[in-house]
Amino acid sequence: MGARNTIYEYGAVAKWLHWIIAFLILGSYVSVYYLQWFTEEDTPANWIALQLHLSIGITIGAFVLLRIFWRLTNPTPKLEPGSRLEHFAAHTGHFLLYVVMILAPLTGYLGTGVNTEYFFLFEIPQFADTSLFAHLVQNKMGLTFKQFEEPIDFIHKEVLGEWLIWLLILGHFLAALYHHFIKKDRTLIRMTTGNQ
Ligand code: HEM
Ligand code: HEM
Repeated sequence: MGARNTIYEYGAVAKWLHWIIAFLILGSYVSVYYLQWFTEEDTPANWIALQLHLSIGITIGAFVLLRIFWRLTNPTPKLEPGSRLEHFAAHTGHFLLYVVMILAPLTGYLGTGVNTEYFFLFEIPQFADTSLFAHLVQNKMGLTFKQFEEPIDFIHKEVLGEWLIWLLILGHFLAALYHHFIKKDRTLIRMTTGNQ
């Protein structure tokens, strides 16, 4: 299997990026729901779970940038045969998955009130402490961190985290099953074991 895509097949890099990001998204949900459901505020477990959520989220952001670069510099494999509606749904669904993959790490980082201790290795300052925040948000927009953070957090938690991401991934997952078990085409094979 080549590293690059062809117009018929995903290459190794696109597949690895797809599955690494899917796995990391699962990790970001597990860490944040563990924090919310099983830990008390101001305990070490709460802090560790939060830091894992932030670290995994930032890692997702970095992989997504790589993935977008790869997608733009590689051919996109043609979809398996289907109706115009199916192809429209697939293109729209994939596009929206990219939108949430960008917005979730971005809103997470912009709205967080703590520094990220990246996997407890080194520290990444929160956006509110950067000179970009002081210049753009405080001076140009005239907002305090609280005023800035509220709508950003709403998008991160209520809109994206709690339902839009779930809904898109669920639709995407069901579409993959539909292709594999009902249409019996190569869609799922192409993203997994195909072309080896
Ligand atoms: C794809 C990446 C990400 C996903 C899918 C994601 C998802 C979520 C979800 C589901 C929640 C809980 C929402 C609720 O309250 O019900 C949450 C909370 C939060 N996220 Fe993210 N997130 C991501 C990346 C990030 C990043 C990069 C940061 C910051 C660097 C971040 C910071 C936070 C913070 C501070 C909270 C509040 C946690 C609390 O309840 O104390 N997230 N996120
Ligand atoms: C739940 C398990 C998942 C399964 C079974 C799955 C399956 C697939 C399959 C079979 C394709 C190939 C479609 C084609 O032939 O064009 C694909 C593509 C894609 N998947 Fe997933 N996927 C999963 C999770 C995710 C997650 C969590 C995301 C991101 C949030 C995602 C984002 C994408 C995107 C954007 C594409 C378009 C191709 C690309 O640009 O990489 N998938 N997926």
